[in-house]
Amino acid sequence: MKLRDRVFIFFINPIFSIIKDYISVNNVGLANDPDFLHEIDLELNANILIVNTLPISILSAAILPQMIKSNAGIIINISSGGGAVAFPYFSIYSSTKAYINHFSKILRSEYSNTNIIIQTISPGHVATNMSSEKISYFSPSAKEFVEDAIKTIGFVPETAGCIPHQIKAAFGMLLPHFMIEFLIKNFAKKMKDAAKIRKQNETKQQ
Ligand SMILES: NC(=O)c1ccc[n+]([C@@H]2O[C@H](COP(=O)([O-])OP(=O)(O)OC[C@H]3O[C@@H](n4cnc5c(N)ncnc54)[C@H](OP(=O)(O)O)[C@@H]3O)[C@@H](O)[C@H]2O)c1
Repeated sequence: MKLRDRVFIFFINPIFSIIKDYISVNNVGLANDPDFLHEIDLELNANILIVNTLPISILSAAILPQMIKSNAGIIINISSGGGAVAFPYFSIYSSTKAYINHFSKILRSEYSNTNIIIQTISPGHVATNMSSEKISYFSPSAKEFVEDAIKTIGFVPETAGCIPHQIKAAFGMLLPHFMIEFLIKNFAKKMKDAAKIRKQNETKQQ
Protein backbone atom coordinates (compact mmCIF):
# COMPACT_ATOMS: atom_id res chain seq x y z
CA MET A 1 0.00 0.00 0.00
CA LYS A 2 1.32 3.46 -0.94
CA LEU A 3 2.15 5.93 1.84
CA ARG A 4 -0.43 8.37 0.42
CA ASP A 5 -3.17 5.68 0.72
CA ARG A 6 -2.10 4.81 4.28
CA VAL A 7 -2.24 8.49 5.29
CA PHE A 8 -5.70 8.69 3.74
CA ILE A 9 -7.06 5.54 5.41
CA PHE A 10 -5.58 6.11 8.88
CA PHE A 11 -5.72 9.91 9.21
CA ILE A 12 -7.75 11.79 6.59
CA ASN A 13 -10.65 9.33 6.38
CA PRO A 14 -11.42 9.25 10.14
CA ILE A 15 -11.07 13.02 10.40
CA PHE A 16 -13.34 13.49 7.41
CA SER A 17 -15.95 11.09 8.78
CA ILE A 18 -16.13 13.26 11.91
CA ILE A 19 -16.19 16.68 10.22
CA LYS A 20 -18.47 15.71 7.32
CA ASP A 21 -21.44 15.92 9.69
CA TYR A 22 -20.62 19.58 10.20
CA ILE A 23 -20.18 20.66 6.57
CA SER A 24 -23.06 21.15 4.17
CA VAL A 25 -22.45 22.35 0.61
CA ASN A 26 -25.70 23.11 -1.17
CA ASN A 27 -24.54 23.02 -4.78
CA VAL A 28 -27.42 21.35 -6.59
CA GLY A 29 -28.84 23.55 -9.30
CA LEU A 30 -30.87 23.50 -12.47
CA ALA A 31 -31.16 26.17 -15.15
CA ASN A 32 -33.02 26.72 -18.40
CA ASP A 33 -31.74 27.80 -21.77
CA PRO A 34 -32.40 31.54 -21.88
CA ASP A 35 -35.95 32.28 -23.05
CA PHE A 36 -39.19 34.10 -22.26
CA LEU A 37 -41.01 32.58 -19.28
CA HIS A 38 -43.95 31.34 -21.38
CA GLU A 39 -41.61 29.65 -23.89
CA ILE A 40 -39.94 27.46 -21.25
CA ASP A 41 -41.40 24.01 -20.66
CA LEU A 42 -43.77 24.14 -17.65
CA GLU A 43 -42.28 21.02 -16.07
CA LEU A 44 -38.77 22.44 -16.39
CA ASN A 45 -39.93 25.69 -14.75
CA ALA A 46 -41.39 23.69 -11.87
CA ASN A 47 -38.22 21.61 -11.52
CA ILE A 48 -35.95 24.67 -11.45
CA LEU A 49 -38.08 26.20 -8.72
CA ILE A 50 -38.06 23.02 -6.64
CA VAL A 51 -34.46 21.84 -7.20
CA ASN A 52 -32.97 25.29 -6.52
CA THR A 53 -34.91 26.12 -3.36
CA LEU A 54 -36.30 23.04 -1.62
CA PRO A 55 -33.13 20.98 -0.86
CA ILE A 56 -31.18 23.98 0.41
CA SER A 57 -34.02 24.89 2.80
CA ILE A 58 -34.81 21.40 4.07
CA LEU A 59 -31.19 20.20 4.34
CA SER A 60 -30.15 23.33 6.25
CA ALA A 61 -33.02 22.79 8.70
CA ALA A 62 -32.04 19.12 9.07
CA ILE A 63 -28.32 19.65 9.67
CA LEU A 64 -28.52 22.70 11.96
CA PRO A 65 -29.50 20.87 15.18
CA GLN A 66 -26.23 18.88 15.28
CA MET A 67 -24.24 22.00 14.38
CA ILE A 68 -25.92 23.95 17.19
CA LYS A 69 -25.22 21.11 19.62
CA SER A 70 -21.50 21.20 18.90
CA ASN A 71 -21.47 24.96 18.19
CA ALA A 72 -19.56 24.33 14.96
CA GLY A 73 -20.34 23.89 11.32
CA ILE A 74 -20.11 25.27 7.82
CA ILE A 75 -23.02 25.72 5.43
CA ILE A 76 -22.06 26.80 1.92
CA ASN A 77 -24.92 27.85 -0.32
CA ILE A 78 -24.17 28.09 -4.03
CA SER A 79 -26.11 30.96 -5.51
CA SER A 80 -25.25 32.81 -8.73
CA GLY A 81 -24.30 36.27 -9.98
CA GLY A 82 -27.72 36.03 -11.62
CA GLY A 83 -29.34 36.18 -8.18
CA ALA A 84 -28.09 39.70 -7.50
CA VAL A 85 -29.71 41.20 -10.60
CA ALA A 86 -33.04 40.71 -12.36
CA PHE A 87 -31.83 38.50 -15.21
CA PRO A 88 -34.10 38.48 -18.29
CA TYR A 89 -34.82 35.07 -19.90
CA PHE A 90 -33.86 33.35 -16.62
CA SER A 91 -36.90 34.52 -14.66
CA ILE A 92 -37.31 31.53 -12.37
CA TYR A 93 -33.60 30.62 -12.15
CA SER A 94 -32.60 34.20 -11.25
CA SER A 95 -35.44 34.42 -8.69
CA THR A 96 -34.46 31.12 -7.04
CA LYS A 97 -30.88 32.41 -6.67
CA ALA A 98 -32.22 35.62 -5.08
CA TYR A 99 -34.12 33.30 -2.69
CA ILE A 100 -30.81 31.59 -1.79
CA ASN A 101 -29.14 34.98 -1.10
CA HIS A 102 -32.06 36.12 1.06
CA PHE A 103 -32.37 32.78 2.88
CA SER A 104 -28.62 32.67 3.67
CA LYS A 105 -28.70 36.26 4.98
CA ILE A 106 -31.57 35.37 7.32
CA LEU A 107 -29.75 32.25 8.59
CA ARG A 108 -26.61 34.30 9.24
CA SER A 109 -28.69 36.65 11.35
CA GLU A 110 -30.53 33.84 13.20
CA TYR A 111 -27.32 31.96 14.08
CA SER A 112 -25.02 34.97 14.52
CA ASN A 113 -24.39 34.09 18.18
CA THR A 114 -22.98 30.66 17.24
CA ASN A 115 -19.75 29.58 15.56
CA ILE A 116 -21.65 28.24 12.54
CA ILE A 117 -20.40 29.71 9.28
CA ILE A 118 -23.08 30.33 6.66
CA GLN A 119 -21.57 31.47 3.40
CA THR A 120 -23.13 32.36 0.05
CA ILE A 121 -21.05 31.88 -3.08
CA SER A 122 -22.36 33.62 -6.20
CA PRO A 123 -20.28 32.59 -9.22
CA GLY A 124 -20.30 34.17 -12.64
CA HIS A 125 -19.71 31.75 -15.52
CA VAL A 126 -17.88 28.52 -14.66
CA ALA A 127 -17.06 26.11 -17.49
CA THR A 128 -19.48 23.28 -16.63
CA ASN A 129 -22.36 21.41 -18.30
CA MET A 130 -24.74 24.10 -17.13
CA SER A 131 -23.00 27.07 -18.77
CA SER A 132 -21.59 25.25 -21.86
CA GLU A 133 -18.77 27.83 -21.65
CA LYS A 134 -15.19 27.14 -22.69
CA ILE A 135 -12.48 27.62 -20.05
CA SER A 136 -11.16 31.21 -20.00
CA TYR A 137 -10.02 33.80 -17.45
CA PHE A 138 -13.62 34.78 -16.69
CA SER A 139 -14.89 31.18 -17.07
CA PRO A 140 -12.64 29.01 -14.92
CA SER A 141 -12.96 25.24 -14.76
CA ALA A 142 -14.96 23.86 -11.82
CA LYS A 143 -11.69 22.67 -10.22
CA GLU A 144 -10.01 26.10 -10.50
CA PHE A 145 -13.15 27.79 -9.19
CA VAL A 146 -13.47 25.51 -6.16
CA GLU A 147 -9.76 25.86 -5.33
CA ASP A 148 -10.24 29.66 -5.13
CA ALA A 149 -13.65 29.60 -3.45
CA ILE A 150 -12.55 27.25 -0.68
CA LYS A 151 -9.94 29.80 0.46
CA THR A 152 -12.68 32.31 1.28
CA ILE A 153 -14.53 30.11 3.79
CA GLY A 154 -14.63 31.78 7.18
CA PHE A 155 -13.38 35.09 5.81
CA VAL A 156 -16.33 36.54 3.91
CA PRO A 157 -20.06 35.77 4.27
CA GLU A 158 -20.81 36.53 0.62
CA THR A 159 -18.43 36.16 -2.30
CA ALA A 160 -18.31 35.61 -6.04
CA GLY A 161 -15.83 32.83 -5.22
CA CYS A 162 -12.86 33.73 -7.42
CA ILE A 163 -11.00 36.90 -8.36
CA PRO A 164 -12.24 37.23 -11.98
CA HIS A 165 -15.87 36.93 -10.86
CA GLN A 166 -15.29 39.28 -7.91
CA ILE A 167 -13.85 41.88 -10.32
CA LYS A 168 -16.96 41.64 -12.51
CA ALA A 169 -19.28 41.89 -9.49
CA ALA A 170 -17.39 44.90 -8.10
CA PHE A 171 -17.47 46.61 -11.50
CA GLY A 172 -21.24 45.97 -11.69
CA MET A 173 -21.76 47.62 -8.31
CA LEU A 174 -20.11 50.84 -9.56
CA LEU A 175 -22.55 51.25 -12.45
CA PRO A 176 -25.91 53.04 -12.19
CA HIS A 177 -28.97 50.77 -12.23
CA PHE A 178 -30.17 51.73 -15.75
CA MET A 179 -26.74 50.85 -17.19
CA ILE A 180 -26.65 47.45 -15.43
CA GLU A 181 -30.14 46.74 -16.74
CA PHE A 182 -29.07 47.68 -20.27
CA LEU A 183 -25.90 45.56 -20.16
CA ILE A 184 -27.62 42.54 -18.57
CA LYS A 185 -30.45 42.64 -21.12
CA ASN A 186 -27.95 42.76 -24.01
CA PHE A 187 -25.86 39.99 -22.51
CA ALA A 188 -28.95 37.83 -21.86
CA LYS A 189 -30.18 38.46 -25.44
CA LYS A 190 -26.83 37.26 -26.81
CA MET A 191 -27.07 34.11 -24.61
CA LYS A 192 -30.64 33.56 -25.85
CA ASP A 193 -29.57 33.86 -29.53
CA ALA A 194 -26.56 31.56 -28.96
CA ALA A 195 -28.81 28.96 -27.27
CA LYS A 196 -31.27 29.15 -30.20
CA ILE A 197 -28.47 28.52 -32.73
CA ARG A 198 -27.10 25.67 -30.59
CA LYS A 199 -30.55 24.04 -30.45
CA GLN A 200 -31.02 24.42 -34.24
CA ASN A 201 -27.62 22.80 -34.87
CA GLU A 202 -28.47 19.94 -32.48
CA THR A 203 -31.78 19.35 -34.31
CA LYS A 204 -30.00 19.35 -37.71
CA GLN A 205 -27.47 16.78 -36.49
CA GLN A 206 -30.23 14.39 -35.29
N1 LIG B 1 -21.81 26.94 -14.29
C1 LIG B 1 -22.05 28.22 -14.08
O1 LIG B 1 -21.69 29.09 -14.91
C2 LIG B 1 -22.75 28.67 -12.82
C3 LIG B 1 -22.86 30.04 -12.59
C4 LIG B 1 -23.50 30.48 -11.44
C5 LIG B 1 -23.98 29.57 -10.52
N2 LIG B 1 -23.87 28.23 -10.78
C6 LIG B 1 -24.43 27.30 -9.78
O2 LIG B 1 -23.46 26.34 -9.42
C7 LIG B 1 -24.11 25.12 -9.01
C8 LIG B 1 -23.49 23.96 -9.74
O3 LIG B 1 -23.80 24.09 -11.13
P1 LIG B 1 -22.86 23.50 -12.30
O4 LIG B 1 -22.44 24.61 -13.13
O5 LIG B 1 -21.85 22.58 -11.72
O6 LIG B 1 -24.00 22.74 -13.12
P2 LIG B 1 -24.08 21.23 -13.57
O7 LIG B 1 -22.80 20.82 -14.15
O8 LIG B 1 -25.34 21.17 -14.40
O9 LIG B 1 -24.31 20.48 -12.18
C9 LIG B 1 -25.53 20.62 -11.48
C10 LIG B 1 -25.56 19.61 -10.36
O10 LIG B 1 -26.89 19.59 -9.81
C11 LIG B 1 -27.36 18.24 -9.84
N3 LIG B 1 -28.80 18.18 -10.12
C12 LIG B 1 -29.53 18.91 -11.00
N4 LIG B 1 -30.82 18.55 -10.94
C13 LIG B 1 -30.92 17.58 -10.01
C14 LIG B 1 -32.00 16.81 -9.48
N5 LIG B 1 -33.24 16.95 -9.91
N6 LIG B 1 -31.73 15.90 -8.51
C15 LIG B 1 -30.48 15.72 -8.07
N7 LIG B 1 -29.40 16.42 -8.52
C16 LIG B 1 -29.63 17.33 -9.48
C17 LIG B 1 -26.60 17.58 -10.97
O11 LIG B 1 -26.59 16.19 -10.74
P3 LIG B 1 -26.29 15.17 -11.95
O12 LIG B 1 -24.86 15.36 -12.31
O13 LIG B 1 -26.59 13.85 -11.34
O14 LIG B 1 -27.21 15.56 -13.05
C18 LIG B 1 -25.23 18.20 -10.83
O15 LIG B 1 -24.46 17.57 -9.83
C19 LIG B 1 -25.61 25.33 -9.32
O16 LIG B 1 -26.28 25.67 -8.14
C20 LIG B 1 -25.61 26.50 -10.29
O17 LIG B 1 -26.83 27.22 -10.27
C21 LIG B 1 -23.26 27.76 -11.90
